[in-house]
Amino acid sequence: MSVKIYCFTGTGNSLSIANQLAKPLNAEVERLDITRYGKEAAETCVREGDILGFVFPVYAWSYPDAVKAFVKKLRIEGKPAYVFAVANCGDSAGETLTAFSRLLEKQGIRLDYGNVCAMPNNYLPLSDVDNQAMERTKLENARVRCAKLAKDIEDRLVGLNSLPPKAIDPFLLYVVHPLFCWYAKGAYRNFFAEQACTGCGICAKVCPQKNISIEHGHPVWGRECASCMACIHWCPAQAIQYGKRTRQFGRYHNPDVSLSALCGEKEEAGR
Ligand SMILES: Cc1cc2nc3c(=O)[nH]c(=O)nc-3n(C[C@H](O)[C@H](O)[C@H](O)COP(=O)(O)O)c2cc1C
Ligand code: SF4
Ligand code: SF4
Repeated sequence: MSVKIYCFTGTGNSLSIANQLAKPLNAEVERLDITRYGKEAAETCVREGDILGFVFPVYAWSYPDAVKAFVKKLRIEGKPAYVFAVANCGDSAGETLTAFSRLLEKQGIRLDYGNVCAMPNNYLPLSDVDNQAMERTKLENARVRCAKLAKDIEDRLVGLNSLPPKAIDPFLLYVVHPLFCWYAKGAYRNFFAEQACTGCGICAKVCPQKNISIEHGHPVWGRECASCMACIHWCPAQAIQYGKRTRQFGRYHNPDVSLSALCGEKEEAGR
């Protein structure tokens, strides 16, 4: 029996949650990037008795398209023993888990357990990052919550989302989310790098879509952006902007996740 957690992340919040769940569950964590869900990616096989976990950020009150693309690559060879999902958001997840459960159902997989976890907000095009006190509180609360979620999963609890539903949730899922997806198709045009860019290439390295190339020492954005905000937040020179407002805003990435861990590289001893 294998326990596998598939994780999509931009600023590392989802990876931090996945890592916190992985320890008690003795699970293997994999960060999803385009090599796992793109057109060329091979199918991922689900075998009888597997335990599957999905951890991802909420994007406009639903799951990211990248997660959908990965789920569509699942090939079912047997019934998994247990399937869980943790969606993390800045403030509100709406009906994300219900929508994700339906997505899995279409692939013949039943979502046994789903829950949400609040994390620092990273959607810079709309608003600034959380202030430091809020960031600290969310991270501390998330550590406690992850321990609870891991216990729920160990106990094989069944059910989705402990938060009470709001009347506006269906509007957010069926109207706002599709509008966001339409807007996001052109989002790549809004990124640019300023003079402070050192050409280090970190933005290209962290991009799960492999959507950035470094040309003449500067990043160039392609059309395949997932709006994950990894590039803008991980740039060590804070040289990346998105439109006109982000120059006034702070930057954030999860303090428990290193750049090398995000990029799937082995950590050097002592670091
Ligand atoms: C494109 C995009 C859309 C987002 N939409 C929502 C949202 O609908 N509700 C919310 O509470 N947070 C939203 N957020 C914030 C993220 O869900 C949150 O910061 C998450 O923890 C980021 O996870 P990551 O670090 O694993 O990428 C959004 C972030 C992005 C980048
Ligand atoms: S991460 Fe920042 S400094 Fe490095 S290449 Fe990208 S934009 Fe330039
Ligand atoms: S270009 Fe930036 S925002 Fe778009 S997918 Fe890559 S890292 Fe994420």
